[in-house]
Amino acid sequence: MTRSFSNPMQHPDWIDPHSRAWYEQLAGEYGEYAYPWKSEFEEPRAEDTFGQLLAASIGENSRLLDVGCGHGDFLHRWAIKAKEAVGIDIVDAFIATANRRKPQQSYRFIAVNANEGLPFEDDYFDVVCSKKGPWLFRENNREGRRVIKPGGTVLHLMHGGTDGGLRALFPDLYTPVPAFDTNRSLQHIANHLELPGSGLSDIEIRIIEETEYLSRPVDVLIKKYFGQSRRLREQVWRERLKDIEEIFHKHVTSRGLKVTNLYYIVTGRAPA
Ligand SMILES: C[S@@+](CC[C@H](N)C(=O)[O-])C[C@H]1O[C@@H](n2cnc3c(N)ncnc32)[C@H](O)[C@@H]1O
Repeated sequence: MTRSFSNPMQHPDWIDPHSRAWYEQLAGEYGEYAYPWKSEFEEPRAEDTFGQLLAASIGENSRLLDVGCGHGDFLHRWAIKAKEAVGIDIVDAFIATANRRKPQQSYRFIAVNANEGLPFEDDYFDVVCSKKGPWLFRENNREGRRVIKPGGTVLHLMHGGTDGGLRALFPDLYTPVPAFDTNRSLQHIANHLELPGSGLSDIEIRIIEETEYLSRPVDVLIKKYFGQSRRLREQVWRERLKDIEEIFHKHVTSRGLKVTNLYYIVTGRAPA
């Protein structure tokens, strides 16, 4: 049998996280994009901070677009007062879940590949947001700028990785990365999202370090193998869980194994 854990990313069954196949695998297994590991958080959570920013930018007459909406729960929770909220996602099974759960007629969830043009009129939305989904304001992609109204609000939440000691404890699972550096990180985000060519004004990047406590040893593996096939997971659990348990119990706190999740919230305004 192939030992899978010396480098999980080189296992033949490994599916690249955030590829279409990976999202399809998740949608097929759970029908939603939700983290299956057990953990607790210190408040505030990055996603709640992002939700509050979104809610504060929506009025009764606002039309909102959520790009890469997954199964739609985020809109259900934070966009309730919008006049119209539209979620788009490339994965049909996520959209099916979102439509099954949608709380009111002013919500629409549509299967769309956001990189291939958007089925909306020009200047339609007051707010365009994306929580960990595609970014539509690149220099050579005009779709975001086309569908947002002049002066409209753009909100984007990006996950920037997890560490807080996790990578040092499990270097064969979570590849070590250089220590976090604010300036390098801000530069990386600006380049990655092509912010100088985005056409947006009033751009702000907030860095959020969120503390999470993984509840059980198996959660270290569930987090790493999120979105992988059941077959690969079962193999790794068999091979690896015992070692993980030992390290976990040595370092666990009363709340669980402490890890830090890094997030970036990017906000901006469409040209007036
Ligand atoms: C990290 S998940 C986040 C889902 C949801 N926003 C959430 O926070 O729970 C990214 C989402 O973007 C969707 N996505 C990725 N590429 C896309 C594309 N080109 N067009 C539309 N949706 C896409 C994925 O299917 C997935 O649902």
